[in-house]
Amino acid sequence: MDLFQHSINVILKNQHPEGAYIASPSFETYHFCWLRDGSFIAYAMDQVGQYASAAAFYRWVGRVITRYAAKVDVLEGMLERGAKPDHTAILNTRFTLEGYEEPRSDDGEWGNFQVDGYGSWLWGLAEHVKLTGDQALRLELVEPIKASVRYLQLVWQLPNYDCWEEHPEYLHPYSLASIYGGLKAVAAWSDLPQLAECAKLAGELAGEVKRFLSDFAIHDGRFIKHLHPAQKGQPPKPVLKSGVDASLLGLALPYAAFDLNDPAISATIQAIEKDLHLPNGGVYRYKEDVYYGGGEWILLTAWLGWYYVLTGKKAQAREMLKWIESTAAENGDLAEQISAHQLAPEHFTPWVEKWGQVASPLLWSHAMTIILHKAIED
Ligand code: BGC
Repeated sequence: MDLFQHSINVILKNQHPEGAYIASPSFETYHFCWLRDGSFIAYAMDQVGQYASAAAFYRWVGRVITRYAAKVDVLEGMLERGAKPDHTAILNTRFTLEGYEEPRSDDGEWGNFQVDGYGSWLWGLAEHVKLTGDQALRLELVEPIKASVRYLQLVWQLPNYDCWEEHPEYLHPYSLASIYGGLKAVAAWSDLPQLAECAKLAGELAGEVKRFLSDFAIHDGRFIKHLHPAQKGQPPKPVLKSGVDASLLGLALPYAAFDLNDPAISATIQAIEKDLHLPNGGVYRYKEDVYYGGGEWILLTAWLGWYYVLTGKKAQAREMLKWIESTAAENGDLAEQISAHQLAPEHFTPWVEKWGQVASPLLWSHAMTIILHKAIED
């Protein structure tokens, strides 16, 4: 089984004709397209020369944002009035494959206020344009780019759900780093008259976000998972009870808010290695994870491997890839997580009863594996 080729095929086969990538075709709860997953999937497609697939995804995002851009005006009005943003004012984290908001369920929202994806797609788009030189796409997407920057300007300091769709009461350094990555990408587009003003704003905001991260997101020499938002004139404070989270890798890779060798990044990686990397195994999200019993996540294992390649530790990166290969199903499919060494086994069955077996294939797992594979090869 050629896992690399299979991964490409799984992604292409599961891309909707309109450009959306379904998170997982066999897991009903994931029959949506997330901007977060999608941006990494499109990035992976770019790495293997599947430019049309990536471009179709970015066009799909552009149409979705254009469709809901009027919500940014609503949001602005609400914030001016001092009101708490609700579903009429936020841009969702996931959409149906046709590009619409999912029907709202009675039990309120399933964590749709997650701001990281609006940074990720801008970052991914910029990578796509760099690689392909497709300036026309940038021009075509001017309006959704502008709407995204305006949206990020309004929301970046608001508490929202993290990338695991939890803890809406906090701010999250991972999400802030995605925003930084997206804004920084737009800041480089001042050459386009239609974007000149937006690029300037994006550059200023990126600087603010980075300062915020440097000032408030480091504790005991390493990055932390959550922050209490600023309140009543008090600066944001670290949430000390949360341990390290593997998504903090994103601060350096790919969003480059900090250098790969920045001391606080190195200390964060060491904490991830110590607390979250099972020897000879995969990487957990965070220690208290109970989702499907809290297994090792393929995409995070590939992400750490990717970091290893870029910091000159290819042998370790290969180990990560080898472990991922060992988890593939007979047909080559990669799951979201591997359940062999769970952190909270008693929580596994209740999730299976609620939503069915662990999602597999998960397109984001395949995407990160492609990225790791290419990084090792190059
Ligand atoms: C994860 C998200 C992801 C979604 C779809 C959730 O369980 O926490 O990060 O975007 O699944 O893959």
